[in-house]
Amino acid sequence: MRVSIASDHAGFDQKQHLAHYLRDEGFEVADLGPATDDRVDYPDFARAVAEDVAAGNSRFGVLVCGTGIGMAIAANKVPGIRAANVIDPRFAELTRQHNDANVVTLSGRFVSLEDNQRIVNVFLNTAFEGGRHADRIQKISDLEQ
Ligand code: RB5
Repeated sequence: MRVSIASDHAGFDQKQHLAHYLRDEGFEVADLGPATDDRVDYPDFARAVAEDVAAGNSRFGVLVCGTGIGMAIAANKVPGIRAANVIDPRFAELTRQHNDANVVTLSGRFVSLEDNQRIVNVFLNTAFEGGRHADRIQKISDLEQ
């Protein structure tokens, strides 16, 4: 399974580690940058991952900034993207089961690498439950029209 990952400067260190971690876990990882921890604007990288996922190049996206909040706000502007800012593995499970989230956004400043590894692992390995939740996802898609 292909996963696209990116960050801003605040999430750069964790992005590097998470990309290695995901490759070790057997995922095909598309690292969409940045290549250094120089200051950058998070919407540029949220857009790159969101468009890659929306185009079907990757099944899921992972974005890391200081809080994860800006990345989620920006990624959710791209049609077809359901980005969830997650700071707890239980929420990673629920946002896959109920919201069919296809991008997870993480905090590189307030959540440890170990916790973010757990979050990403749960996120990428939990299925959408469908059923009554599918109707609600359709209503979210309708908001894009
Ligand atoms: C960068 O200082 C910071 O604003 C950014 O990483 C992120 O936390 C925005 O939501």
